[in-house]
This record gives sequence, C-alpha cells and structure tokens, in this order.
Amino acid sequence: MPPVQSVLVVDPDTDFLEWVETQLHAQGVKVLISSDSEKAYQLFLKNKPDVILTETHGKPLGGMDLLAKIRHRDSNAIVVLMSAFGTTQAVIEAMRLGAFDFIRKQQLPFTLKVVIDSALKAQSDMKAATSAKPALTVEEHQDSLVGKSAAMQQVFKMVGRVSMSDAPVMITGESGSGKELVARAVHQYSQRHNKSYVAINCAAIPEQLLESELFGHEKGAFTGAVSQRAGRFEQCDGGSLFLDEIGDMPIQLQSKILRVLQDGEFTRVGGNQVIRSDVRIIAATNKNLEQEVSERRFREDLFYRLNVVRIQLPPLRQRTEDIRLLAEYFIQKISTRLRLPKLSISEDAMRLLEGHSWPGNVRELENTIQRSCVLATSDVLLPKDIPLGQVATVVDPSNPLAHAGEITREQAVRALLRFAEQSPDTQLLPWLEREFTLHAMRVTNGNQVRAAKLLGITRATLRKRIEQFSITRETTVT
Ligand SMILES: Nc1ncnc2c1ncn2[C@@H]1O[C@H](COP(=O)(O)OP(=O)(O)OP(=O)(O)O)[C@@H](O)[C@H]1O
Ligand SMILES: [Mg+2]
Repeated sequence: MPPVQSVLVVDPDTDFLEWVETQLHAQGVKVLISSDSEKAYQLFLKNKPDVILTETHGKPLGGMDLLAKIRHRDSNAIVVLMSAFGTTQAVIEAMRLGAFDFIRKQQLPFTLKVVIDSALKAQSDMKAATSAKPALTVEEHQDSLVGKSAAMQQVFKMVGRVSMSDAPVMITGESGSGKELVARAVHQYSQRHNKSYVAINCAAIPEQLLESELFGHEKGAFTGAVSQRAGRFEQCDGGSLFLDEIGDMPIQLQSKILRVLQDGEFTRVGGNQVIRSDVRIIAATNKNLEQEVSERRFREDLFYRLNVVRIQLPPLRQRTEDIRLLAEYFIQKISTRLRLPKLSISEDAMRLLEGHSWPGNVRELENTIQRSCVLATSDVLLPKDIPLGQVATVVDPSNPLAHAGEITREQAVRALLRFAEQSPDTQLLPWLEREFTLHAMRVTNGNQVRAAKLLGITRATLRKRIEQFSITRETTVT
C-alpha cells in the first residue's frame, strides 16, 4: 500500500475549494486548501505536498507567479494550473514555467480524478526530467495562435514544453493547418526569441540553389557566384531555422543537414573551411515522412534526428469547436485590416461554417471570412454572405464600380477599399477615401451624422478624414 499522497489546492473561491476537498477526500488523498496564495506558498514550504493545484487568478499572487515561485524553489514540484479561460498565451506560459498540466475549470467535474491521479503518478517520473528554472517574463502580445479544442491545447502545451530545450521540432499537419504559425511560436517562446528566426521553404527553391541558400558559397563556386556569401545556417547562428516543406529536401542535401544536426558543422558550397553554427531546427511538412522514409526518398537517420519532438496539427475538421473562435478572430482581424465597420456574424452563418469540412483547413476558413467581410451587405454576416466552396467574384478589378448599382453603397465602399488595398498603386486608397467622404458630405448636405452613417464609419473617423482631406463647406457645395 503506497503512503497517502497529498494535494494542495489554491483558489480564491472558498466554495470551490470545499468542493475539490470533498472530491479528493473521496479519492483517498490528503488535502490542504488555501484561498490566499501567499499562505499557500507557506503551506507548500512546510508540508511539501505531492501535487499543487492552483487557479490562475490567485490572490495576492497570481497562479502563474505562484507556479514560478514554487518551481523556482523546487524544480520537481508538480503544479497543475486551472482556469475558466485558458488562453493560448496562458497555456503556453504555464507549460513554459514548468506546469505539469493546464486544465479548464468547466471540465473539472469530469476530469479532476484523472488529472490528479496522473499528476500523482507522474511525480516520481518528473523528478529526473526537470531542472531549476528562473521565472521568465514573456512580452505581452496578442494571441495569434487561436484554439480552445483539446487538440490545440495539446499543441500549446508542446510549444511550452519545448521552449526550454534546443531539441529539433518536427511539425506535421495538412496544408493550411497552421504549421508555420506554430513554428514561429516555438521560436517566440524559446530562449532564442531575441535571436534571429529564419524561414526557408525547401520546396520553393530550385534544387541547385537550395544548397547555397542554406550553407552559403565561396566566390567562384559556380557560375554567378561572384562573391562569397553566407547561407541561412550562418546567418541564423544562435537562432532558429525553420525548414518548411522538409519532405521536399533533395536527398543529397539531407546528409549535409544531418551533419549540422549531429556536429553543428558544415562547409559552404565550393569551400573546405568547416563552419560552426548553433542553430535550432524547426521543420515542417505536410507529407507523410514515415512513408517517404520507407520509399527511400527521405533519409531514415535524418528523420530520427529531426523527429525528436513531434507536434502534430490536427486538421480543422477534427476540431470543430475551434471554428467559432477562429471565425470571430478572423472577422475582427480582417475588418480592422480592411478598415471595415465592426462586423459580427449570425448564428445561422456560424452554423454553416461549423458544418463545413474545410479541406483547406484554417487557411480556407480565413479566406472565406475575408470574402464574406467584403461581400456582406450589413454589419452582420449572414449565410448568404458566406461563399463556401465558390469562387469569389467580389469585384471586377477593371471596373470596381460595376456592381454599385446592384449592391448597397456601403458594400461598394468596402469592395473598393478592398480593391484598393490589393492594388499596388498605393495612391488609390486615400483618393478613394477622399472621393467617398466628399460624396457622402455632398449628398447629406454636410450633415456629419448622416454622412458617417452612409459611409459606415464613426463620426470621429469622419472628422479625421474631413481634416485629413481638407474638406471644407465650400468643397461640399455642388
Ligand atoms: N490556430 C490558428 N490561429 C490563428 N490563425 C491560424 C491558426 N492556424 C492557422 N492560421 C492561419 O491560417 C493560415 C494558414 O496557416 P499556415 O500558413 O501556418 O499553414 P501551414 O500548415 O503552414 O500550411 P501549408 O502546409 O500550406 O504551408 C495563416 O494565415 C495562419 O495565420
Ligand atoms: Mg506553411
């Protein structure tokens, strides 16, 4: 019979504490509770509980700070964070600070036992695996990697876990599933975050140039090599190198990559001098590399070297619970970028999105939302605005006003602004803005409230434009 194990539970909500206490008692675990995180830390020092379960919103110390403090003191401590929210950044940060797990509170009634059991069981295994880490601060930045599904939370946890190591990371997943975004996150959250991040697409560069691109060349190494040039591996010393589409790397180059991975050494094309570079490799592919290996198109030894940590991105159709969140995120992102009025989406339209199978994954969703935002005839996206599986005929570039008769003015404005945005002629956008502002002021007889409404912008924005374009009463009088 193993000795009784103990869990310290920290949460400002005393009702919740009582609930957890009852549950864990029933599990035969010794329970310590505290609604005050400073006191909880003292309890931790005194009692050395096997597992600490803490809310992220603690008082007076936040859960992350408590986690950092505990892990700083005892790098083998097993701390589980819980939150009703669990944003991407919070999950990554928690894992980075060495949390054992991050759980969503809503799921606790179903998962508490499993989580605590596995935390207690893993305690001994964890001891050898972790080492003391100081609390690191991450710059505040907006989540750009969105996802609440269990599968994506798993991805965030992996990003956090690999942040302290330099091990190669292999990211796999279908096209458009977010591999590149995850690669960036791996770098961003790593110790190398203020060193360079260089991305190279192995499939997009002709085979003859790829070697020189990666490793550089000596003067005269080949026709056109007029001077010596450093390759990506050299430029990226101390940083992370993202080898995108690694499955398309020519086999003869693969051995050179393997050498860098093993010894950190390589030579430039046409050179003998051995160059050393400390580069963390992040690789991605949408190919099945195991199959490539079995068909001898990919070196087995390189595969094992790269596959130390594998982050598998699930296709969007296997995480439908993320569709809503991603859709809302893209609506916000796109309307800000295209300077559209604040848009929202109807439940029917959302259900349409949730019911689609998204063969093109998140990229397809993003493109669909982008088209919808431009096509929308009101500030709410409706099912008719969602061009699923259609080729978008948003606007005829040769005559952006061709649709103006059939569609509302606001839609025309949006289409035009979008057209202008895509146009290489950067002069077009201010010109259009001025024309529309002027037009709106004229037809409303200089009434700013009505003009702003007509343009679908706020009055403050309208005032800014009036000032910016020096529109006076005289110019609006026709
Ligand atoms: N979880 C996510 N949150 C927010 N945006 C995402 C997410 N996943 C993907 N995206 C967006 O979807 C688009 C496609 O993602 P990305 O380029 O990373 O895909 P990929 O897996 O590299 O695709 P490919 O294999 O075709 O290169 C990008 O615009 C990216 O910003
Ligand atoms: Mg990609």
